[in-house]
Amino acid sequence: MNNFIYHNPTKLVFGKGQIARLPKLIPAGKRIMLTFGGGSVKRNGVYDQVVAALEGRDLVEFWGIEANPSVETLREAIALGKERKVDFLLAVGGGSVIDGTKLIAAGLLYDGDAWDIVLKGQAGKTVPLATVLTMSATGSEMNSGAVISRYETKEKYAFYGDYPVFSILDPETLYSLPKRQVACGLADTFVHVLEQYMTTPHQSRLMDRWAEGLLLTLVDIAPALRTPEPDYDVLADYMLTATLGLNDMICMGVNQDWATHAIGHEITALTGMAHGATLAIVFPALLRVLIDTKEAKLVQMGERVFDVHYGTDRERALETIVRLEAFFASLGLPTRLDEAGVGEDVEREIVRRFEERNWKLGEHKNITPAQIAAILASARPAKA
Ligand code: NZQ
Ligand code: ZN
Repeated sequence: MNNFIYHNPTKLVFGKGQIARLPKLIPAGKRIMLTFGGGSVKRNGVYDQVVAALEGRDLVEFWGIEANPSVETLREAIALGKERKVDFLLAVGGGSVIDGTKLIAAGLLYDGDAWDIVLKGQAGKTVPLATVLTMSATGSEMNSGAVISRYETKEKYAFYGDYPVFSILDPETLYSLPKRQVACGLADTFVHVLEQYMTTPHQSRLMDRWAEGLLLTLVDIAPALRTPEPDYDVLADYMLTATLGLNDMICMGVNQDWATHAIGHEITALTGMAHGATLAIVFPALLRVLIDTKEAKLVQMGERVFDVHYGTDRERALETIVRLEAFFASLGLPTRLDEAGVGEDVEREIVRRFEERNWKLGEHKNITPAQIAAILASARPAKA
C-alpha cells in the first residue's frame, strides 16, 4: 500500500426533508449566492424548498450553468458575485452546477481571468460553498474536483478547488431525473470506481472489497432504476454509492488510472456528448487494448462482480470485458463510437491533442498517443 493522507471535510446531510435544515447549516449574516442549472429545480419543486428554507436570508440567484459548465457563463457569475459581495455559495443541481460553483468560489477571490485557475489545475483561496444535490454521478458533492469547459476553443479540463462545507442528499430530488441521466450517472459512478480499482493488483484488500461493494451495488440496483416508478430506497442506494465512488474513500494507498476520463473529456469537448456516455464507450475499449496490464484485476473483478469463474486468465479477462460492455448496454447507452454517431474526424483530433500535450496517462503514466489511437479504433465499430 502506498503512503497517503486522507482528509475529507464535507458534512453529508442525507435523507428526505433535509433541505429544511439549510438555515441551521449556513451561518447567519452571509450573503448567499444560489447557483442553478437550466431550470429542472423549478419544475421538480427543489427550488421552492430551498427558498422556503432560506426565507429572510440575504440571497442572490444565478441561473444558467450548463451541463458541462462553461467558463464563459461562469465569468458572468463571478462578476455578479463580486458586485454583490457574496460570501457564501450554495449550488443547487448536479455535478455541472456544483463544478461551476467551485470555479465561482475560486474566481470571487481571484483578480485575473477564471480560465487561468482551470489551467493552473489548483485554486488558491476560495469562498465557502455547499450543495443541494439533484443528480447523482460525479461525487462533486463530496470532493474538491471540478471539470470546466471553454466552449470557444472546445476544451475541457479538470482543476481542484475546495470541498463543499456540507452537501444535502435527498433521494426524493432524484425522482424527476430522466432515465437517460440515470443511465449516464450509473456509468459514470461505475467508471469512477474502476479508475481507482482496475489498476495494480494486491495493493489493498480493503480498498478492493470496498470498490467491489460499490460495483455490486450498482449492478444490483441498475434494473430497478430503469422501471418507471421511482423507488426511494433504490434511489437512496444509488445516491450514496455515487458519492462514495468519488470521495477519496476507495483510493487510499492505491494507484489510480483516469485515462478513460481524460479521453472521455475530449469526446465531450468536441461533440457535447454527456460525460457518463463517453465513459461507457471508452472504458471497455481501453481494457481491450491494455489487457496485458489489466488482466489480473480483470480476472478478480470477473470472479467477484460478474460471476466469471471458468477458463484461462486471458479468457476470463476477455469475458469480463464483454460483461462490462453488456452492463453499459443494458443501461441503454451506446458502447461504440459508431453507435453514438461520433465521426472519425473527432478520433483524429483527440489523438492530435494528446500528441501535442504530451500528457502522461494511466496508472503507470505510460499510455502513448498511439495507444490512445488504438483505444479509439477499438471503440469504433458497432457490435455485430
Ligand atoms: O440544468 P438543469 O435544468 O438542472 O438540468 C440538468 C442537466 O440538464 C438535469 N438534472 C439535474 N438534476 C435533475 C435534472 N433533471 C431532472 N431532475 C433532476 N433532479 O440533468 C442534466 C445533467 O446534469 P449535470 O449536472 O450536467 O450531470 P452530472 O451530475 O453528470 O455532471 C456532469 C459534469 O460533471 C463533470 C463532468 O465532466 C460533467 O461536466 N464531472 C465532475 C467530476 C467531479 N467534480 O469530481 C468528476 C466526474 O468524472 C465528471 O467529470
Ligand atoms: Zn466521471
